[in-house]
Amino acid sequence: MPPVAASAPVSESSGLTDRHGRAITDLRVAITDRCNYKCVYCRTGNDGAQYAELPVEEYLRMVRVLVSLGIEKIRITGGEPLLRRGVVDMVAGVARLQPTMPAVSGRLRQPLDIALTTNGHLLAELARPLKDAGLNRVTVSMDAVDPAKFARITRVPGSFRQVLAGVRAAQAAGLEPVKVNCVLLRGFNEDQIIEFAKFSRDEGVIVRFIEFMPLEEDRSWTPDSVVRLEEIIERLNRFQPVVPLPPNTQSETARRYTFADGRGEIGIIAPVSHPFCGHCSRIRLTSDGKLRTCLFSQSDHDLYGLMRRGADDAALAAYIRRVVDHKEARHHIGEPGFLKPSRSMVHIGG
Ligand code: 5AD
Repeated sequence: MPPVAASAPVSESSGLTDRHGRAITDLRVAITDRCNYKCVYCRTGNDGAQYAELPVEEYLRMVRVLVSLGIEKIRITGGEPLLRRGVVDMVAGVARLQPTMPAVSGRLRQPLDIALTTNGHLLAELARPLKDAGLNRVTVSMDAVDPAKFARITRVPGSFRQVLAGVRAAQAAGLEPVKVNCVLLRGFNEDQIIEFAKFSRDEGVIVRFIEFMPLEEDRSWTPDSVVRLEEIIERLNRFQPVVPLPPNTQSETARRYTFADGRGEIGIIAPVSHPFCGHCSRIRLTSDGKLRTCLFSQSDHDLYGLMRRGADDAALAAYIRRVVDHKEARHHIGEPGFLKPSRSMVHIGG
């Protein structure tokens, strides 16, 4: 998309919306595409890709403009964001951004919700400084509760103990509720479903099972590799009957459940078997400063390039509005002619 002129009108009165009528309120910002894990469903570690990171101030300028347009929720991602020197400054910088519009679509602006997704490896040391910098919540990726299986998935020995310490440190620091994301892979970890239900109850974390999507480097995805929502519920019911919980928000991706005694919370994120594109509220900023309007986009939009060429905030805002307007209606996973996205997950940002 060509850059727009600096004089393009920018409406300050309405939030970000797309041509399908969806309000875009949720931004994921990747601050690195490096990772210290090589999870079997994500990256091989030898894709030869060039890593890309921008100075924290550059991300913050783009985030500031996005917040001025109505973004309410910011999730810092990677790669692995805790590898990034400056992650605490990034959180502090985001926390200082006050929403500049009094209201979006007639609603009063809430304080920014600032979250971070991490593999948890470095969280034990960083939980407290991140909380002090203004982080509200963390999501930790954990794909097994069995330490040996965990190490087979991450391909890093000793990783389970480290991540468990990270989860507990996050709780102690008040980064709550801590969510744990588990991507289910047929033949790898579906035997961990009940173990994770117990983990949720014992550790007081929200466990979210995610259907495997075709975002991996090595193209191992097949429809059969997906452990679907119905099967997850069936397996949980063998442990104890699950009880549905009401959604927290309309654009929530997870279907929520607990058990009869109310202990433990399970979310199931089912983008393959039950897509939620119709109420998607998300956009992404990659670590090299490109806007992505869908995980499965075939291209990204070079917001940073425009900024580097001297665009002022109004021009950036107008560009963002045009890009967001063209957000894809939905993904096409599992359909004939499905095209893999133009980047793998580690280079998109979680
Ligand atoms: N399918 C589903 N979830 C994935 N994640 C990474 N790759 C995939 C995939 N192919 C998860 C990570 C992390 C979150 C940001 O996305 O485990 O928790």
